[in-house]
Amino acid sequence: MKVTTAKSAGFCFGVHRAVDVVYKEVENGGYVYTYGPIIHNEEVVEELKRKGVRVINSPEELKDAPKGTIILRSHGVTEAIYQKLASYGHEIKDATCPFVKKIHKVVREQSEQGRYIIIIGNRNHPEVEGIIGWVKNTDNGNRYSVIQEEEEAKSFSVPLDQKLCIVSQTTYNYKKFQDLVEIISKKGYDIFVLNTICNATQERQNEAYQIAKQSDAMIVIGGKASSNTRKLYEICKKECENTYYIQKLDDLDLNLFKSFRNVGITAGASTPNKIIKEVHTVMSEKSFQQLLDEEEVVKISAGDIVEGTVLAVKEDEIILNIGYKSEGIITKNEFTNSPNVDLTSVVKVGDKLQAKVLKVNDGEGQVALTYKRLAAEKGNKRLEEAFNNQEVLTAKVSAVLNGGLSVIIDEARVFIPASLVSDTYEKDLSKYNGKEISFVITEFNPRKRRIIGNRKQLIVAEKEKLKKELFDKLTVGATVEGTVKNITDFGAFIDLGGADGLLHISEMSWGRVENPKKLFKVGDTVKTFVKSIQGDKIALSMKFEDQNPWINAESKYAVGNIVTGVVARMTDFGAFVELEPGIDALLHVSQISKDHVDKPSDVLKIGQEITAKVVEFNKEEKKISLSIKAMEAPEKESEVAEEAKENVAEEASAQVTE
Ligand code: F3S
Repeated sequence: MKVTTAKSAGFCFGVHRAVDVVYKEVENGGYVYTYGPIIHNEEVVEELKRKGVRVINSPEELKDAPKGTIILRSHGVTEAIYQKLASYGHEIKDATCPFVKKIHKVVREQSEQGRYIIIIGNRNHPEVEGIIGWVKNTDNGNRYSVIQEEEEAKSFSVPLDQKLCIVSQTTYNYKKFQDLVEIISKKGYDIFVLNTICNATQERQNEAYQIAKQSDAMIVIGGKASSNTRKLYEICKKECENTYYIQKLDDLDLNLFKSFRNVGITAGASTPNKIIKEVHTVMSEKSFQQLLDEEEVVKISAGDIVEGTVLAVKEDEIILNIGYKSEGIITKNEFTNSPNVDLTSVVKVGDKLQAKVLKVNDGEGQVALTYKRLAAEKGNKRLEEAFNNQEVLTAKVSAVLNGGLSVIIDEARVFIPASLVSDTYEKDLSKYNGKEISFVITEFNPRKRRIIGNRKQLIVAEKEKLKKELFDKLTVGATVEGTVKNITDFGAFIDLGGADGLLHISEMSWGRVENPKKLFKVGDTVKTFVKSIQGDKIALSMKFEDQNPWINAESKYAVGNIVTGVVARMTDFGAFVELEPGIDALLHVSQISKDHVDKPSDVLKIGQEITAKVVEFNKEEKKISLSIKAMEAPEKESEVAEEAKENVAEEASAQVTE
């Protein structure tokens, strides 16, 4: 049978820690006191009483009590109580949950800076009473409010120029917290809000749901009156029909479990670990001693690398069980170099993490750990290997800096100078932010903090490769598709994927092209053929032979045909008429009219459409002569033709003389 016990079952990390402190103190001997019951679990409190632990409810009770150790529970106490307890000469063991301690610190600092404190929570809850005690009030009165309900938020009012700081009781409902903050925000105050809600309960429920989904049977352990255990039972029962609610091992009917292969276990927040372990042991037939042996305490010192299991995660810190007498703590700064990371989205309770010890005692009794520095060391090793092997690395750009890009690989930072980002100069690098890019390491000097990446080298190499592939397959006459990359007055450069080809203006069409920019725009896809290759110069053409207008010109423009065209250009001896793109004909000045015409421009305009008769067609020389005069005097057609020929000859000799 496979038995899975929820890592978040039972006490949350804060309560667990506090109860542990009491048991350890009992073992050490001497008088042990707790300030209030250490946990809301009568069985545990009774057991501790039997072991001599005395619960006190006010500092005065300690005044004349025999000297011993007073343990503060996870809820924390006010600063005044703390000082009073200290004044009686007893040793104080502060088991305030670090998450609650953080609220104390924030409240004290913010109120010292003049902010008015709002605590969202239940005024009578010991945790809230403790938080209130860390607010720095002024002689003019209290500078805090506790708000629990919407009505209180709505009616809240202090002068508008008063800055506020809002925190929350750790076990408060997140949705409600958001709603109340929203109501207060709308009033127009300058507000500093810190979400101090602990997600331990939510995590316990999430994990129970996940395990129940995959189990044949589920055991939920907890007091019958415990509302959070009942909630767990309901969640599990929905996912797993065979869910059993027990208070202790004796309630378990083992016969019920004979046929199950996967059994899950979870427990409410007030269920001692001992009971959970007993149930786990019986179900998995593992001896209790074995389980205890697993809890071997390790010795650590600064610089050691330790492995631990995540006990709790907040947005900005992680608590790790590293098998040492105190927990390890990794702050957000020591977890990652990436800004804007919410730790709860990258780490969850039960995860295993390796970290390096920074300080065995961070001043608050915890072990200060760093995850990112260890990861960076590993990352540096990885980068060194990549540098030596010229391996191509791929990572997201974490920041765009003035002079280039910053990329993080396994918490090690690589800088890619702007000049090495691409093979062309890029003024604005912001488009790379958050994008995944590939590069090689071309300089590795972690001591000088110079780890330089080079993306340009890859781009250049890739282009060379593509160029070679292109030239290997390119032949004169082959049809190729490409993208218009650049347009000039004399032609367009076409990217063929590896090299550019030049499509000269005269090769863009069988007809006349005035301005390439009117025909194409950058990014257009064009189909061309290779006209010639000289070295790495590729000349392209779009004058495909099957579209040559002279192929069918003989019948269309036979002598005697009446044709229509547009005056394209003019000289003194005649006008050139475009009959269709690629075919121009000459209308000699003498053939424009029966009347004498001095210059063609006297009677014609560029762009004017004219109708004329073909009086000569010469396919070899691609010459066509037109005459309007011939249409006006059809009976003298043969003379006109003769005349036109002479005129063409004249024009030819005139052109030669010119
Ligand atoms: Fe427990 Fe501390 Fe959270 S006491 S519920 S871990 S704030």
